[in-house]
Amino acid sequence: MTKPTLAFHRRHRLLGLIFGLSGLFAMPALAASPVFDNPAGGNPIGGMSVYKAFHEQPGIDRVIDDSVDRWVADPRISKRFEGRNLVRLRLELKAQVCYLVGGPCAYAGKDMKAAHAGMGLENLDFNALAEDLQLAMNKEHVPFPAQNRLLAKLAPMQRAIVTK
Ligand code: HEM
Repeated sequence: MTKPTLAFHRRHRLLGLIFGLSGLFAMPALAASPVFDNPAGGNPIGGMSVYKAFHEQPGIDRVIDDSVDRWVADPRISKRFEGRNLVRLRLELKAQVCYLVGGPCAYAGKDMKAAHAGMGLENLDFNALAEDLQLAMNKEHVPFPAQNRLLAKLAPMQRAIVTK
């Protein structure tokens, strides 16, 4: 794996803070949270600029395929994916990310709570998955502001996905 750069570490600390804070402040708003109202886990980013920064659907497809490849090879989380339907996972994630970044897609998969029910996922799983996704976005040369817009959409989903 590529050695993380100093910039990556700095940004990672910032994202850790965003993820941590979202956890602290999301609690009172849970009942009305888009994480639960919308199966995709949130409402889409407005406009097409972030979708374009991801290089549209082909870029999103590359980011998701590379992310899933990293997850199944990542010793921290690989066991979570054993025996799972990865074809379906890739398809649903491509639609979900396209939808969230403002692309012309609909997400028809399970809501985030149902999709991860019974898996006993922990914060460590969530953070490892997000780190691998960042590496995949870097490889696709998605500009950092657009990466952060997507990560900010994913962060509040932690409360629906992490149950341990
Ligand atoms: C923001 C973070 C995450 C998002 C956006 C996300 C999104 C999704 C989506 C869209 C699906 C497919 C739902 C469907 O089949 O209808 C799914 C399933 C799955 N996710 Fe996640 N996920 C996240 C975090 C995680 C984490 C942290 C893990 C484990 C390390 C994980 C492991 C899985 C597995 C194994 C499945 C397949 C379940 C099955 O159908 O057998 N996910 N996820």
